[in-house]
Amino acid sequence: MSNSIKLAILGLGTVGTGVINLINDNLNELKRRSGRDIIITEVGTRRQRDDIDPNIIQNSDLMATAASDNVDIVIEVIGGTTLAKDVIMHAIKNGKHVVTANKALLAEHGNEIFAFAEQHQVHVAYEAAVAGGIPIIKVMREALAANKVEWLAGIINGTGNFIMTEMRDKGRPFADVLSEAQELGYAEADPTFDVEGIDAAHKLALLASIAFGIPLQFDKVYCEGITGITLQDVNYAEELGYRIKHLGFAVRRDGQGNADNAGIELRVHPTLIPQDALLANVNGVKNAVLVNSHPLGQTLYCGDGAGAGATASAVMADVMDLVRVLGSKDNDDQSSGDQNSSDQNNTNQNNKGHHVPHLAFIPEQLSDTPILRAEQMTTGYYLRVHAYDSPGVLADITRILSDAGINIDAILQKPAHKAGEVPVIILTLPVVESQMNLAIEKIEKLDTITDKVVRIRLDELA
Ligand code: HSE
Repeated sequence: MSNSIKLAILGLGTVGTGVINLINDNLNELKRRSGRDIIITEVGTRRQRDDIDPNIIQNSDLMATAASDNVDIVIEVIGGTTLAKDVIMHAIKNGKHVVTANKALLAEHGNEIFAFAEQHQVHVAYEAAVAGGIPIIKVMREALAANKVEWLAGIINGTGNFIMTEMRDKGRPFADVLSEAQELGYAEADPTFDVEGIDAAHKLALLASIAFGIPLQFDKVYCEGITGITLQDVNYAEELGYRIKHLGFAVRRDGQGNADNAGIELRVHPTLIPQDALLANVNGVKNAVLVNSHPLGQTLYCGDGAGAGATASAVMADVMDLVRVLGSKDNDDQSSGDQNSSDQNNTNQNNKGHHVPHLAFIPEQLSDTPILRAEQMTTGYYLRVHAYDSPGVLADITRILSDAGINIDAILQKPAHKAGEVPVIILTLPVVESQMNLAIEKIEKLDTITDKVVRIRLDELA
């Protein structure tokens, strides 16, 4: 092996270009930290670019680049789940380590990809897939390795947070802010992934797996986006001391005496959180992940969650880790010399030992803890009920809630905004969703109720 580490970058969009810029800007820093020259030897791109160093081969055949002898590490930043999967599997098969920012691909096919990588004794690193530049994957996989995670809650979509912040602070229209997020390179190719919560659900699936040691289960994440949030609810929430943020939650539940409700909640949705909570003050494109683990307690990780520089930083952090793995493999290979295949197996085992397992727990130890269905999940609620302004309306609503065992935490009745019609805002303590569904069904059947009940989940983050 030469002293240089040879990289291929597949995809030259916002992130790929960001990686090239980072390497150019910080070349000396990278060499001083790794002891190696880190060079880009090939880029996989369909469109030839004349702004790229002419020493770098530009190849429109991405599969060829993924298997090239001229490459040690393949960086996949194409996005999507078809071609990206093919090139990653091909790179793995050809003994390449892979770095990817592709949360959609890993959330949907990560179990298969990681198993294939284990089989071929290579690593698929994915720091850039979750929360942009925040090193949350490294923290969860390594720094918190001695802890038992109880729950985590995070702002894990920069575009969504940017939109919510601009709407609240400046009253800007949704579509306008989304266009700006696209121009700034924050939004997904299909921005419905951002605003419908799908991107956050991909990231949550990854975080939950490394938090609890469970296989990736994106299809079981409950997912709600921000498109239904109105300024009216943002303002009522503020009046009651709360802020609406789009959050992902992964929570371990013991079922509180009901074994049917024991398991893990995976959910992404707008959430009222106390205005003075640190997460409530994470604004713009910033992401933040709050982790509650035993015995450490709560820790918060915050930083830019999208954009070229933040994502390139995470990609290159993985590259730097892999440089060390490559270095150690080199040493192992030298020390094993021409010994027999059983020794070679030991070498592979040793090499494996230099790196944390893909999902933080050793694959044989992943658990089959059930993922709870939405009706089994427990959260507080913000309810906005529209009713005719007549005697007894409030009493009817609160009676239904109390009959369902739902504890009211606060109540606010606003003056009539349409002729004879009043909005009533109710905050509740945590309740199992199936109970809340039944209560809302009853409230909506009251003659005095004029519209569907609006509900947004609420969490004190305590
Ligand atoms: N569209 C994503 C976001 C990019 O806004 O967070 C980073 O994953």
